[in-house]
Amino acid sequence: MSFIQLKNIRKLFNRTDKPAVNHLNLSIKQGEIITLLGPSGCGKTTILRMIAGFERPTAGSIQIDDDIVYSKNRFVPPEKRGVGMVFQDYALFPHLTIEKNIAFGLNKWRRSEKKARVAEVLELVGLTDYAKRYPNELSGGQQQRVSLARALAPKPNVVLMDEPFSNLDAGLREKMRHDIADILKKANTTAIIVTHDQKDAFAVSDKVVVMNEGIIQQVAHPRDIYRCPTNCFVAEFVGKTNLLQGVVAEDLKHIDTNIGRVCLAEKTDQANNLKVAN
Ligand SMILES: Nc1ncnc2c1ncn2[C@@H]1O[C@H](COP(=O)(O)OP(=O)(O)OP(=O)(O)O)[C@@H](O)[C@H]1O
Ligand SMILES: [Mg+2]
Repeated sequence: MSFIQLKNIRKLFNRTDKPAVNHLNLSIKQGEIITLLGPSGCGKTTILRMIAGFERPTAGSIQIDDDIVYSKNRFVPPEKRGVGMVFQDYALFPHLTIEKNIAFGLNKWRRSEKKARVAEVLELVGLTDYAKRYPNELSGGQQQRVSLARALAPKPNVVLMDEPFSNLDAGLREKMRHDIADILKKANTTAIIVTHDQKDAFAVSDKVVVMNEGIIQQVAHPRDIYRCPTNCFVAEFVGKTNLLQGVVAEDLKHIDTNIGRVCLAEKTDQANNLKVAN
C-alpha cells in the first residue's frame, strides 16, 4: 500500500505559463527513498513544496499516511503534515548549540523524552560528541547531518531534502551520499530527495523519478533507469549514451540500425521504432 500518494497533480503559477508540474502521479511506500532527478526548472522543488504544504497544487490530491493533506476541498497546513525538511543551506540556528538545534522541533515533548530523543538522533548521525558545539564549529558534512537529525527528531512521516549535496565538495559529497542513505535506512524513514545530479540519485535511492518540463519521464530502480531508459530524454540525461536510431525487429529482441543489427538486453515491449543502446 502507498504511504504517500500524489494523484493527477498540476501546478500553474500563472494562468498563461506552461504548468510547472503536470499529470503527476506518484506512489511511495513506507521507508522508501525516492529521488526526483531532472534539469533545472523541471519542477522538482515545486513538488517538494506542494508535499510540504508551502505551495498549493492547482489540481489533484496529496495523501500522506492515510490522510488527504490536499484536495479540492481540503488543505492541511505544513505543521500538521508530519513532514521534516532539510534545506540546501542547512538553515541551522547559529546561536544555538547542536543539541538545542535538534531539540527545536520538540517543544511539545516532555523534558526527559526530549533529552532522550536528542541523544538518540545524535547517535544516529554519529555526532554524540558534538552536542555542545555551535554550528560554525562543525564541517559542512557535519552540519548537513545535524540538519538531518533535526528533521528526523520529531519522527516525521516523511523527510524532504532539496539538493542536500550541492554545497559539498566532490569528495565529501560522495561520502555524504552514503552516510545520508545509511541514516535514512536506519531510521526507517520515507524520504524524497531532490537532485539534478544522477550520481546522487543512483547512490541513495530505491527509486528514481526522472522529470522533464514538469512531467515524469520514468519511475524505476536506478539500475533499470540506466539499463532500460524509457525514452531518449532519460537515456541522455542519466549517462554517457550513444543513441542509435533503428527499427524493432519482429522478434522484439533486436533492433535494425544503420550500423547493423543490435541485440537488446531484454525483450522490448515498445511498439515504437526507436530504441536506445547504452
Ligand atoms: N513562485 C513562483 N512563481 C512563478 N513561477 C515559479 C515559481 N516557483 C517556480 N516557478 C517556475 O516553475 C518551474 C519549476 O520550478 P522549480 O523551482 O520547481 O524547478 P527545479 O526543478 O527545482 O529547478 P532547479 O534545479 O533549478 O532548482 C520553473 O519554470 C520556475 O520558473
Ligand atoms: Mg529546485
